[in-house]
Amino acid sequence: MTTALPRYSRISGTGSYLPPDRVSNADLAARLARDGIETSDEWIVERTGIRFRHFAAADVAVSDLALIASRRALEAADCDPGAIDLIIVATSTPDMVFPSVACILQAKLGIAGCAAFDVQAVCSGFVYALTVADSMIKTGSASKALVVGAEVFSRILDFKDRTTCVLFGDGAGAVVLEASETPGILATELHADGRYVDILCVPGHVSGGNVLGDPLLKMDGPAVFKLAVGVLESVARSVLEKAGRTGADIDWLIPHQANIRIMQSTAKKLKLAPSKLIATVDRHGNTSAASIPLALDESVRAGTIGRGDTVLLEGVGGGFTWGAALIDF
Ligand code: UT7
Repeated sequence: MTTALPRYSRISGTGSYLPPDRVSNADLAARLARDGIETSDEWIVERTGIRFRHFAAADVAVSDLALIASRRALEAADCDPGAIDLIIVATSTPDMVFPSVACILQAKLGIAGCAAFDVQAVCSGFVYALTVADSMIKTGSASKALVVGAEVFSRILDFKDRTTCVLFGDGAGAVVLEASETPGILATELHADGRYVDILCVPGHVSGGNVLGDPLLKMDGPAVFKLAVGVLESVARSVLEKAGRTGADIDWLIPHQANIRIMQSTAKKLKLAPSKLIATVDRHGNTSAASIPLALDESVRAGTIGRGDTVLLEGVGGGFTWGAALIDF
């Protein structure tokens, strides 16, 4: 009798893409000033750490960003698109109401037949998608997954609301996740609390050929801030315990890139040296589900994160949703 080897999943390649239009705080302040709305580089940097964000051109869809990030991840993994047997895209800004961005991406990659679907968990979306892909690989339903976080949040921003429109940007990040005899993904954990739907939402919807309700992003920033700092600490501790590791084992922390103050507070609570915190929020803004894979790919390509490093990924956002994945890269 042969004993089946334990099956794990491991990231074999990363990729990302930012649209070329880079908008500085000063550019944005000038745009808002035309409508009589005041903001400044000083306020945005001090309260959020954000200096730049990228906006996609009007004719670019989220699947276009996802396609470039995916091709880069496939190339890094030395993986032919035809070998992919699962595509999961985390997004809250899809090309269409349906079908999914994952199906559109599948067609753009020139492949067909494998499972493809979207995950909608807003800024926690990538951690949700990675967790689902990991589970499907561990149970044998997939062997090579393409897991993508991609967003065009610029399309749902209210440029008359200075409390939100200065925060978000567009972009995409992707990983190839493969079956492996060694982990890989050490532990994951997901949570949601739907009682907080209203503190971060886009309430509009399509009905009878019209958009009903306001289709622009609403956020109670201070309420989200307060919840985020609490759950990012608790889910980090929980996922470490699940994996039988401690904070001392973490080489790199990649939290959702929303606000440098939230990220630094999380690192401090976990007693991590500030140098272990990966921050791209200054250059990308908050790209929702794309923020974690974008930061991961940038760090891998810069040589900061190397093979064997232990990385804690943490998402938090609308829903309210949150989650973490501890990985040996
Ligand atoms: O992606 C999902 C997760 N999202 C997050 O984690 C976001 C969490 N929230 C935050 O990051 C912060 O709450 C914000 C960055 C959104 C806001 O920072 P804050 O320190 O919580 O500021 P606040 O909302 O308490 O506003 C302070 C002041 C207010 O003026 P008053 O009432 O004190 O006179 C705002 O009107 O700052 C004002 N303000 C601005 N001033 C200049 C708000 N937005 C701006 C702005 N420019 N863009």
